[in-house]
Amino acid sequence: MNGVRSVILGTGSALPARRVSNAELAQQIDTSDEWIVERTGIRFRHIAGPDETTSTLAADAARAAIAAAGIEARDIDLIVLATATPDQTFPASATKVQALLGIEDCVAFDVAAVCSGFLYALQVADSMIRAGAYARALVIGAETFSRILDWEDRGTCVLFGDGAGAIVLAAEEDSERGILATKLHADGRHNDLLYVDGGPSTTGTVGKVRMKGREVFRHAVVNLAAVMGESLGAAGLTAADVDWVVPHQANARILDATAKKLGLAPEKVVVTVDQHANTSAASVPLALDTAVRDGRVRRGDLLVLEAMGGGFTWGAAVVRY
Ligand code: COA
Repeated sequence: MNGVRSVILGTGSALPARRVSNAELAQQIDTSDEWIVERTGIRFRHIAGPDETTSTLAADAARAAIAAAGIEARDIDLIVLATATPDQTFPASATKVQALLGIEDCVAFDVAAVCSGFLYALQVADSMIRAGAYARALVIGAETFSRILDWEDRGTCVLFGDGAGAIVLAAEEDSERGILATKLHADGRHNDLLYVDGGPSTTGTVGKVRMKGREVFRHAVVNLAAVMGESLGAAGLTAADVDWVVPHQANARILDATAKKLGLAPEKVVVTVDQHANTSAASVPLALDTAVRDGRVRRGDLLVLEAMGGGFTWGAAVVRY
């Protein structure tokens, strides 16, 4: 008897229409395709146009996930949207998604944990489902990081992109599938290594992304390997049981180093950073949807999702898809 589990019924994603190559960036700032590929593995990113916002991308991803789940939008009773780039300071972008989907009544709110936001949102939704409060949840990660980048800072602006990913979670009794374990962490002593230099309560401005990349890199590998091991342990499993790691897509070198630390073959890691760059909270569900749709991830596979971001915050989830 497993009790109630949150099972992934469907996945979806959405990207802005405009795709920007490293070479195109190199026409505007002092960088090169070679530097970006060698240090990060990134080749392309999508950049939102004036009519594309976090909530429109989120709603598009949600529609695709709802269709894949084979349900109707009105069946959703909970929307948890992870984002650090909401349309407005308030209302929560989740309520805008609700309106765009035409859902008359449900619970809808945003979660702010930057790049690990999707993992935080997943644990929140999973807990609410297993508590019996909700039956069908949309968990979304959506970002328009291009709007908070300093396009004169080549150390950050080449790394990020825009996009959205979504999943539909459903309560199922005694399922073999579903979310088996989630583990989250935060350590606010590292606020100053990755942050935005503005906000409603400080400068009254939106601010731009600031990062000490090398230090973030060092912490990321250690924390991600540890939390993946911890979440697998909580599920009574080991790295040998894992079919796919679906990681936060920050940097190909972080993905390689983390997999190596856990003794996981690089072929088991879903890599989309080359195509999407770092889409913050969107990156894990975007990578998951990509791997589901191209046939890599199949029903019954054991997945480990992981992410780390500003705060620092980090986390992992073990999921039987
Ligand atoms: N193009 C060309 N040169 C660049 C550049 C760019 N886009 N950005 C930085 N450089 C230069 C720097 O100015 C520096 O030059 P200098 O030695 O003459 O001063 C040189 O490249 C090395 O910079 P450094 O920052 O030390 O490089 P790095 O090897 O640490 O790589 C990152 C930089 C950002 C790619 C890397 O630190 C990283 O990926 N960190 C993790 C970031 C991350 O994942 N953040 C998100 C977590 S959610």
